[in-house]
Order: sequence, then C-alpha cells, then structure tokens
Amino acid sequence: MKDLFGQALLDFQNENYTEDIITSTNISDEDALPIPYLFRDFKDMPKLEQQALKLAKGHILDVGCGSGSHTLYLQKKGLKVKAIDISEGAIEVAKLRGVLHAEVKNILDESTRFDTLLLLMNGTGIFQELSQVSKYLTHLKGLLNDAGQILMDSSDIKYMYEDEDGGYWMDTNANYYGELDYFLSYKGEEETPMKWLYLDFETLKLACETVGLNCELIKDGEHFDYLARLTCV
Ligand SMILES: C[S@@+](CC[C@H](N)C(=O)[O-])C[C@H]1O[C@@H](n2cnc3c(N)ncnc32)[C@H](O)[C@@H]1O
Repeated sequence: MKDLFGQALLDFQNENYTEDIITSTNISDEDALPIPYLFRDFKDMPKLEQQALKLAKGHILDVGCGSGSHTLYLQKKGLKVKAIDISEGAIEVAKLRGVLHAEVKNILDESTRFDTLLLLMNGTGIFQELSQVSKYLTHLKGLLNDAGQILMDSSDIKYMYEDEDGGYWMDTNANYYGELDYFLSYKGEEETPMKWLYLDFETLKLACETVGLNCELIKDGEHFDYLARLTCV
C-alpha cells in the first residue's frame, strides 16, 4: 500500500490541499472524494454517524479512524478513546489534530477489550469480502467487554445495479453484489487496488447470528444506508 489516502490527509492538515482523492469501483465511474469531508465536524456528519457518537460509551475503540474526526468529538466530551488505522499518514494526522491515543494498527492485531467499537463511513468495508465477515465479526466480538457494543454503518448498494427500467443487471452467478474492487488515485498516482465490502442489513444480521451476535437496526439513513448495533447474545 502506497498510503495515498494518508498522504492526502497529511497534505490537507499541512495546508497543501490542492486536489481531491479520485475513487472508482468495478461497477462505477470516477468520483471525487472531497478531502475536507474527511475532517468533518459533528454538525457536518451524516445523521447515522451523529447517532453512533451519541450511543458511544465507556472505553471506545475508533476502528479505521482516518483523520480522527469521530475520536476528537468523543474525546472533547470527556470519553476515553483509542483510535487505530492501518494508514501511517492517517495516524500522523490524527495525532497532529490532538487525538491522544492513536496507533498504526490493523484491527485484527488489536487485543485490548472495549465497551464500544466504532466502525464508521461504511464500517463493513474493512471486512473486504463476504467470506471474511465471520472472521472479522468473531474477532470484534472477542474485543468486547461485558455488555459491550459494536456500532457500524453500511449500505445496501443494490441500487447501483438498477437500470433505467427499474430492473437489476447484476450477475446472479457472481459473488455477493456488495463486494467491490476499489480504486483510488491522488495527484496522478494510483493506489494498489483494494477490496471494499458493502453489506445490506439482512446479510449482516445473518452473519451476526452465525457468530453469536445480536444485530439491531438503530437507524436507516437517507440513501439505503443504515446504522447497526451488535451485541453479544
Ligand atoms: C472510509 S475510511 C473512514 C475513515 C474515518 N472513519 C472517517 O469516517 O472519516 C476507512 C479507514 O479504515 C482504514 N482501514 C482499512 N482497513 C483497516 C483495518 N483492517 N484495520 C484498521 N483500519 C483499517 C483505512 O486506512 C481508512 O482510514
């Protein structure tokens, strides 16, 4: 990984913001990801994220924290938060912005227990593909204190396969429709392609059942997205 995402965050933090990140997927064309959005305040966050932050309690782990926007809000409220990300640039920025406990770490290498695990901005993305969901959910479950909770958002992206007649063009023999190949470029450089998973709520709920987690729908978003709370059965 070249960490172009982290580089873009660092450029913004260091007032060298000149262009946005460009993303595309195997089913969608190029789109700009505005870097200022990755530095959003509470008031500019989607309602689902605001709700997740209201529900967060106890010792919190912000998984895939990016520039640390969610952590900073919770920290200011006096909550104890640890922020982790696999991007070195993201963690550098999070620290520069004032995140007190930030570490370059893959969630699969985390072993401390928490009261709340936060996975926001399509939190299921880090599972990468459907076949890995059980592995990640089992690991996340093992990081929960008694009465702990996992708060994550995702989307049912079936709408991306809808044609003008209202039919769907997805290949039913292909893998799960929420599994995407994700391409990112920044300032003319291309990142190593990655896999990014969107999970519809029913599929997430089924996967939770297989690993002994309750999955509760907290809130639907404005565009096929949702916030879920996972707790131990
Ligand atoms: C879509 S960004 C969201 C950033 C931030 N949560 C936000 O809402 O602005 C996803 C983040 O997850 C991080 N990430 C991806 N896989 C990860 C993993 N296995 N463990 C920890 N972080 C991961 C990426 O580096 C990236 O910063």
